[in-house]
Amino acid sequence: MKVFSGAQPSGKIHIGNYLAAIKNWAELQDKNECLFSIVDLHAITVDYDAENFEKKINQLLAVYLAIGLDPEKVTIFLQSEIKEHSELAWLLSTITPLNELQRMTQFKDKSEKVAGKSGATINAGLLNYPILMAADILLYQTDIVPVGQDQVQHIEFARTIARKFNKKFGQTFKVPEAKVLKIGAKIMSLVDPTKKMSKSDENQESCIYITDSEKDIKRKISRSVTDSGKKIKYDAKKKAGISNLLTIYSLFSGKTIKETEKHFINKNYKQLKEELSDLLIEKLSPISKKIKELEGRDIYLKEVLEIGRKKAQKIAKSSMETVKRKMGLSIN
Ligand code: AMP
Ligand code: TRP
Repeated sequence: MKVFSGAQPSGKIHIGNYLAAIKNWAELQDKNECLFSIVDLHAITVDYDAENFEKKINQLLAVYLAIGLDPEKVTIFLQSEIKEHSELAWLLSTITPLNELQRMTQFKDKSEKVAGKSGATINAGLLNYPILMAADILLYQTDIVPVGQDQVQHIEFARTIARKFNKKFGQTFKVPEAKVLKIGAKIMSLVDPTKKMSKSDENQESCIYITDSEKDIKRKISRSVTDSGKKIKYDAKKKAGISNLLTIYSLFSGKTIKETEKHFINKNYKQLKEELSDLLIEKLSPISKKIKELEGRDIYLKEVLEIGRKKAQKIAKSSMETVKRKMGLSIN
């Protein structure tokens, strides 16, 4: 199977990104043909710091490698280095109804946030974001897209566009499928467990970043919002905070939710939080250590991206030729 996914170099990676996405990418790499991109063109659809952007890209690449993506097995590349992504996005935009873009949840959320800031405008890039994402996926004839819950609507959109293109110009694109975890596809904020854990959250206490120190992890987990009850039980509606902590524990320990509930049966919230902190520290500290080591290895990181660029470029070029031919465009 062909697997494609990506993350934006837009901030520190948190355990939601890790558990729902990147960790699973590493698990898929042995049996599939995988491409994992650093989607810098998506990250510039909101305010960003151009001066530090290259650093952010390197940090994300270090995360990919530290988590175990093996550049010998998978193609890791920087989206903006493959011009075909932008080119295909333009072509797909010509068959995309405007209202499909306007109804996307992420667009509505992000544009609301932008509208709340004085003097800020909602850029077309934010609206067109799902088209670029569809181009990323379709360019490589992807079967499976492992992501968190928040991206499922975008993959539905990619499916719709693929079908529409195929109908209009003849069979060209594979119709991709989202792969999401049954439990853990949406890790919630530690401060407000009704909201998702988000890189762009201004309150850093809401996220556990994979590079957080022991002290940070202990503090954030011990202060995480729960409820006034006592029972450690999974109930996402009535006990959102406790359910989130149980989910995180379950995914890091490899135990099911049922087994996790059993493990905590006669224990209190404080004990749950202490055990969870210890588990997070145990699992995250080796990753943090590797990230730090890799961040200093600039030449190696450049090499990884260069190898990936060459591999991705070859596929993208040939796909674009097919697409252009089908659309009656010149390929010269
Ligand atoms: P991004 O931060 O937008 O680059 O997201 C990278 C990956 O992490 C995507 O597959 C997202 O769906 C996933 N993701 C982001 N936030 C969460 C969350 N709170 N829970 C689970 N997955 C998430
Ligand atoms: N939009 C995705 C996110 O924010 C990142 C992304 C861009 C992506 N292109 C993709 C994910 C293609 C999967 C496939 O998480």
